[in-house]
Amino acid sequence: MRTVVIIPTYNEREALPITLAALRADVPEVDVLIVDDNSPDGTGRWADEYAAGDPRVQVLHRSSKDGLGRAYIAGFRWALARGYASIVEMDADSSHRSLDLPALLRAAADGADLVIGSRWVPGGAVENWPLHRQLLSRGATTYTRLAMGLPVRDATAGFRVYSARQLGSLDLDEVDSQGYCFQIDMTWRVYRAGGRIVEVPITFVERSEGQSKMSGAIVREALVKVTGWGAARRWQQLRGLVRPGPRSA
Ligand code: GDD
Ligand code: MN
Repeated sequence: MRTVVIIPTYNEREALPITLAALRADVPEVDVLIVDDNSPDGTGRWADEYAAGDPRVQVLHRSSKDGLGRAYIAGFRWALARGYASIVEMDADSSHRSLDLPALLRAAADGADLVIGSRWVPGGAVENWPLHRQLLSRGATTYTRLAMGLPVRDATAGFRVYSARQLGSLDLDEVDSQGYCFQIDMTWRVYRAGGRIVEVPITFVERSEGQSKMSGAIVREALVKVTGWGAARRWQQLRGLVRPGPRSA
């Protein structure tokens, strides 16, 4: 199965070289696409130099910082246009261990449409993650389960494998989530499309280089969107009860 790992970057000049070296050594058979948002610290330039010496690595440059969601959508389109069968999301800061990737790819090869590398299933773990981030992550997933009925344990997880079949069947033009709720948004789309979602335990290791891009705006966007998606779902359920019809399922 041809596989590409998409790594979005913004100011990851210190972190990306470590992540990339580990990925190329541990899983040499996958291709890599770095999607850089014109990082002021020169990550994109460094990536170009690296890619010049490694035919498996390519770089997509975007003009400015435009959010994780838009970077991934650009990467998805790039990957779909090139016929990859499996499309992986991975952070640049070594929080996602390349050693965990083969287990995710096996689950994809076994037929999952979306494989989520999950911190919050038995066997999953986090290392060195501040308590407030753990609470935020668990809280986000719990709220997503309650509000939207989305039956996953780690809805914002950023280490994933999509089958091209599943990704290609979604209307990516509709996806407008910019921050980390992009992960919830995509999971919700796969779930509603009837895709098979499998969670595989991973260990998430907090970065040692560079800084997180998490912000208040990202949390607010997620809160507003998840509440909205949940309300829309309840409204649809209610309509189905009052006026049962073919659309009510
Ligand atoms: N191109 C681009 N543009 N990349 C971005 C942007 C952006 O606007 N914002 C973030 N990134 C990249 C970072 O450079 C990094 O490679 C990856 O996205 C994750 O960003 P971090 O800032 O390291 O995220 P985190 O560690 O705080 O968040 C983790 O937890 C979130 C919540 O569970 C990650 O696992 C996220 O994927 C997850 O949603
Ligand atoms: Mn991180």
